Amino acid sequence: MYKIVKKETLTTNIYLMDVEAPRVAGSCLPGQFVIVRMDDEGERIPLTICDYDREKGLVTICFQAVGAGTMMMSELKEGDSFHDFVGPLGRPSELVEEDLESLKKKKILFVAGGVGTAPVYPQVKWLHEHGIAADVIVGAKNKDLLILEDMMKAVAGNLYITTDDGSYGRSGMVTQVIKDLVAEGNKYDVCIAIGPMIMMKFVCLLTKELNLPTVVSLNPIMVDGTGMCGACRVTVGDQVKFACVDGPEFDGHLVNFDEAMRRQTLYKTQEGRAVLKLEEGDTHHGGCGNC
Ligand code: NAD
Ligand code: FES
Repeated sequence: MYKIVKKETLTTNIYLMDVEAPRVAGSCLPGQFVIVRMDDEGERIPLTICDYDREKGLVTICFQAVGAGTMMMSELKEGDSFHDFVGPLGRPSELVEEDLESLKKKKILFVAGGVGTAPVYPQVKWLHEHGIAADVIVGAKNKDLLILEDMMKAVAGNLYITTDDGSYGRSGMVTQVIKDLVAEGNKYDVCIAIGPMIMMKFVCLLTKELNLPTVVSLNPIMVDGTGMCGACRVTVGDQVKFACVDGPEFDGHLVNFDEAMRRQTLYKTQEGRAVLKLEEGDTHHGGCGNC
């Protein structure tokens, strides 16, 4: 069992939990995710890792209560436990595997949208701990929905907050801030964008024009996180990939966002899943394709 030692409500329907999971805390890296289950028959819920403390054996998760599973999770209290807390899963961010000296020469821009701010945080923190100050744009619909501002401020080089309605920070979506920063003369070598699919799509359309290589994290399209359900199938360049086993990070300029978003909608119903199976044949699932 994996005990919840701290629970915080960050804003409406968005929660942060520190969970006792020493084995995961001991080996996880930024960019990876865990699968949690509340009981042995419960739904598997994949969640990106927001932070970890190797000494205390704690892993921090941050989630939005949107479906039945996450709504039930939001009812858990400090002292309660998860039945399963499996990980670390997925490939770590490419950044943590790069040569540190060449990484130090790069100007890195993170773009975080809404709840996607949570998986951006461990990457920026990791860079900060290695002497690299990255610029970070955080976008939220309004001031009340902004999360992790103080934590991010402590590790970012420059932090640019923007709200869609202008109630805090700059006004407008994250794409406007990218345009402004580039117009102000900032030159970036790489952009890492994590947030809702629609945000990542529009960030990629813009950074393609700007010739700015961009990495995205496709955690939002995962369902069971095991490579078997077929939910996170995505075309990247000319290849079929599964976000949970091949990702979650991919070259954003190669991701077919329109196809991935159509699949996300179809996958919600049994009829839609049947359509996808028919269209995609053996490539519908990860793994062997027969389960
Ligand atoms: P949101 O809808 O509030 O959007 C956050 C920000 O993204 C906005 O403030 C805006 O700046 C930007 N954005 C949105 N639409 C845009 C567009 N068309 N063009 C340019 N910028 C745009 O975000 P939310 O409600 O917090 O998002 C929840 C989503 O984030 C869920 O779908 C969830 O699955 C996803 N999420 C993603 C990850 C990941 O790893 N990629 C992790 C956690 C959550
Ligand atoms: Fe089910 Fe990836 S989430 S195959």
